[in-house]
Amino acid sequence: MTGPRLGVLSSGKGSNLRNLFSRGYRITAVATNRPGCGAAAFARQQGLQLGEFSQRRFPSSLARDEALSGWLLEVGVDIVVNAGYDRILGEPMTKAFAGRMLNIHPSLLPSFGGGMDAVERALEHGVKVTGCTVHLVTDAVDAGPILLQAAVPVLPDDDAQRLHQRIQAEEHRILPQAIDLLWARLGGSPRPVKETTVV
Ligand code: GRF
Repeated sequence: MTGPRLGVLSSGKGSNLRNLFSRGYRITAVATNRPGCGAAAFARQQGLQLGEFSQRRFPSSLARDEALSGWLLEVGVDIVVNAGYDRILGEPMTKAFAGRMLNIHPSLLPSFGGGMDAVERALEHGVKVTGCTVHLVTDAVDAGPILLQAAVPVLPDDDAQRLHQRIQAEEHRILPQAIDLLWARLGGSPRPVKETTVV
């Protein structure tokens, strides 16, 4: 199997994880800080290697991120994909995976960066166009170099859920593209295209 070995970080329902899996990406590790989340359940169901890093198991966020980066390095991932991980990643992660860690954010950065409520804030603000961004993770939250963006119009009768759903359809399109782009930049050979149906 070729293509990058991915480490996917998630605290949420895991639709981006499922999408990558169904497109045949090599998911070497899934890490979560919320063992009860949808992404963790999917990892268990598919027999993916799952690392649980709940904050309460660690004395500090630094210790948590040291354990997380140590595990991802040990397992051997090429690219880390932050897909709905609800903790800010500290130096142990940003250093170990500098230039090879992506984040997907549900807004057109630099608008509505920071926090997990970008869709709600865009609606409250009354913007007519929002979208999603895939960028490299640096120490500056949601402010690393942008790889790809997709725009999504805000419709008159949108609520956060409807708008987020349309944004996620775009996330599922551009996150794989951004991974391929980064992998090519890192000098990796292209991934064979294989789609797996997830029921
Ligand atoms: C996505 O909207 C992503 O942009 C944000 O968290 C959400 C994760 O969604 N960072 P899912 O868990 O992959 O469905």
